[in-house]
Amino acid sequence: MTDHALRLGVNIDHVATVRNARGGDNPDPVRAALMAQDAGADGITAHLREDRRHIRDADIQALKDAISVPLNFEMAATDEMVDIACEVKPNAACIVPERREEVTTEGGLAVAGREAELAPCFNRIRDAGIRLSLFIEASEAEIHAAASVGADIVELHTGRYCHDAKTRATELVRIAEAAALADSLGLECHAGHGLDYETVAAIAAIPQMHELNIGHFLMGESLFIGLEAAIRRMRRLMDEARSL
Ligand code: PXP
Repeated sequence: MTDHALRLGVNIDHVATVRNARGGDNPDPVRAALMAQDAGADGITAHLREDRRHIRDADIQALKDAISVPLNFEMAATDEMVDIACEVKPNAACIVPERREEVTTEGGLAVAGREAELAPCFNRIRDAGIRLSLFIEASEAEIHAAASVGADIVELHTGRYCHDAKTRATELVRIAEAAALADSLGLECHAGHGLDYETVAAIAAIPQMHELNIGHFLMGESLFIGLEAAIRRMRRLMDEARSL
């Protein structure tokens, strides 16, 4: 039994992906965020990519204004994105690496060795009163680097754990060890990327885990059973894993 609740952050980017496929206003990511909140999401995550392929600038402000749970703003470490974060003031800014050609965020942010280069961006975020979250690989070096730059949160990349069943057990150990190290350094530990009904329980059971951010699978599942039902089922799997 763990001593703190595990939060579910729902990433609504792909509602905007579908909207943008046809232009216009439907489906509305804000409506999805409100529905997610009603279904038990503890936070809403949205990624404003440099190319605006899904979430747009106006969506971020509209989300912040509409929801009553915390907004986790995923962004690249660029001056443009820091300006937007400082204007919108989300609860947290989750800094992710971004390459235009990638389909999704394919790896963690390299912080180790780039501390001085990234410091101005990180400092501006913290000075604006926004919690600084770094999306990193579950590696000792990256966790120490995150602590050294004053991050509040590390979000551990679960992509490899989710996508390769053959190495899943090894990856799980790596993530669990990283979570324990992060916790010992005073960092709040989150995780996300690629999680689904099958892969969520083992990650949810890691005692130091505070939040899981899940998007793609929930949006796909919602086509079949509806968004609320998909979120409620994910929540139940997380709660069950937590109470073992
Ligand atoms: N966390 C971060 C930092 C991400 O970049 C993403 C993908 O946007 C997620 C969580 C959610 O990943 P998925 O959509 O695969 O559930």
